[in-house]
Amino acid sequence: MYYSFYSHLLDLLRRISGSASPGEKMVLLLRMAKPVILRSVGLVKPVSLTKIPGRYLAHQEGLPHLPVPPLKQTLERYLLALKPIISQEEWNHTQELVQEFGKPGGVGERLQKGLERRARKTENWLSDWWLQTAYLDYRMPVVLHSSPGVVLPKLQFDDCQGQLRYAAKLIAGVLDFKTIIDNETLPVEYLGEKPLCMNQYYQILSSCRIPGAKRDSVVNYTRVKNPPTHITVVHNLQFFQLDVYNSDGSPLTVDQIYSQLEKIWNSSLQTNKEPVGMLTSQHRNTWAVAYNNLIKDKTNKESVRTIQKSIFTVCLDAPMPRVSDELYKSRVAAQMLHGGGSRWNSGNRWFDKTLQFIIGEDGSCGLVYEHSPAEGPPIVSLLDHIVEYTKKCEMVRSPMIPLSMPKKLRFNITPEIKQDIEKAKQNLNIMVHDLDIKVMVFDLYGKNFPKSQMMSPDAFIQVALQLAYFRIYKCSCATYESASLRMFRLGRTDTIRSASVSSLAFVQAVDDTTKANTEKVELLRNAVKAHRAYTDMAIRGQAIDRHLLGLKLQSIEDLVSIPEIFMDTSYAVAMHFNLSTSQVPAKTDCVMCFGPVVPDGYGVCYNAMDDHINFAISAYNSCADTNAARLAHYLENALQDMHSLILQSQKSKL
Ligand code: COA
Repeated sequence: MYYSFYSHLLDLLRRISGSASPGEKMVLLLRMAKPVILRSVGLVKPVSLTKIPGRYLAHQEGLPHLPVPPLKQTLERYLLALKPIISQEEWNHTQELVQEFGKPGGVGERLQKGLERRARKTENWLSDWWLQTAYLDYRMPVVLHSSPGVVLPKLQFDDCQGQLRYAAKLIAGVLDFKTIIDNETLPVEYLGEKPLCMNQYYQILSSCRIPGAKRDSVVNYTRVKNPPTHITVVHNLQFFQLDVYNSDGSPLTVDQIYSQLEKIWNSSLQTNKEPVGMLTSQHRNTWAVAYNNLIKDKTNKESVRTIQKSIFTVCLDAPMPRVSDELYKSRVAAQMLHGGGSRWNSGNRWFDKTLQFIIGEDGSCGLVYEHSPAEGPPIVSLLDHIVEYTKKCEMVRSPMIPLSMPKKLRFNITPEIKQDIEKAKQNLNIMVHDLDIKVMVFDLYGKNFPKSQMMSPDAFIQVALQLAYFRIYKCSCATYESASLRMFRLGRTDTIRSASVSSLAFVQAVDDTTKANTEKVELLRNAVKAHRAYTDMAIRGQAIDRHLLGLKLQSIEDLVSIPEIFMDTSYAVAMHFNLSTSQVPAKTDCVMCFGPVVPDGYGVCYNAMDDHINFAISAYNSCADTNAARLAHYLENALQDMHSLILQSQKSKL
């Protein structure tokens, strides 16, 4: 998942597209861009996430700082990355701009020195900038545009008892994980021999995004004086505060939680409530205005604070319309991403909340999470823990001390708030209709097959995606794959550019009947190797995207004009990610899903298991050129064809 200054501009341009004259548009654009520029030059205080004290601090401090790559290296690699996605003529022009930018004593060198100074002064030269640019300044709704969902396999119940029983186990599972985090006994993760930054694990519980007029913020209540001891439960659009610890500090048992959930369920049977949570699905500027209006009322303010402060949220969803087995997982992915619309469960959410676990009465299950504090892997590893926990734990009815009724969070709805909710419903329903999503289980093979061929499974899947896209569109496009920077302190992500000179050579050759299979396999191996080499470079902090972003933000901070290379069409093409992809591996047979990052693009997330691969592919219905099911179909064929190509060429060698 990515976001860039370029996307800000796109967002601004989209918003001014209706105005009258070009001059007027320019004035509007400058006015709207001003806060972005002010923030970039540091005139608005940046928001930092919580620092973790204790044992982990020692681990964190042992981690290396994110390097600033050499300028010359990035510029050369940038030109190479452009090759498969722009024309030779554009490339020649860009090469001149790059030479000018990188010449000795030029703008590039000055900005590079600025970045290196920043790197010396900060724990991570990128992390605050990234948090702001990619998330907190981003004004589009978090729904579809930012928050990923996770689809779990269907659970074996079809009624509210089953739903509450599972919810109770799930809550106990999260609390078990929280104990591990609180005690700082979470094992440090490794990539190969390198320990990883564990900071994101400390940001996902007891945190929430808060809308702001120009920039949002994210709050974390883990290390405050009185950390929260409650979660929020939403049922039938009504919010409840559920205390999950006994007075002696021990977590409630599964049967205690179950009986509390029963009370919540029974006291929220009326359905005539205003879906106040729907407000959180709005465009961030709109939500910020509605938010200030909502919390003017003291009761509303208290209720909102209780949700924000809670450890996490559990959404007990109403059953969704039944669909065929083939469509079931795609339907659940949509339910996780947006809740199904105002008639269904979209109001049964607080989309600003970092973690929302969703359990439907019909056995559908998963989560949606607000992206700013963490990437997918820590979320999914928490999910793996919960799934294992729910398998092991049994509900044993034991005599219990009666617990008090969970507190219902009240909202006083004024006509103005009601109007804001109505507007939010309309916009949400438009987003719901716009989402085109397909979950596909590819079951011919999983990651064991590429491994048996001594190829990286991730690179193999990325090359298959390139082939699928090329077969549909007859060209390659800028492709984003998230690479973890967690080898570095406070590391988040960089971009693996999956469209390469080698991937283009392979996809152009594969359907050429004049070429021999052995040659095609050779090209396939080269493409896979090139992808893995880019991955290795990215996870070592030597990729180009964040470095280029840093140079651009540095020019804004230095108040110099934005260098030509960033105003170039090739840069715009390079940042227009028609394919935005990510691998989020999990032990559980689940898949993460997210929306496309450009109006004419796809979001593709996958979990490669040993013998099958789960894919979630998204697109927008409003774009006539994209279709999630079509890309899924071409991807399936590409994976099958690459498999047969390898096996055939092996047979012919025998
Ligand atoms: N021959 C045989 N086996 C190979 C191989 C080869 N040439 N190359 C890799 N493998 C093996 C690996 O050893 C690994 O084995 P394991 O399953 O026993 O662990 C397995 O294949 C998977 O490796 P690979 O497919 O290459 O991917 P990876 O695990 O190195 O992951 C990324 C690559 C890019 C996904 C990962 O580095 C990363 O950055 N993940 C972060 C994603 C993220 O943050 N997403 C955010 C979403 S919000």
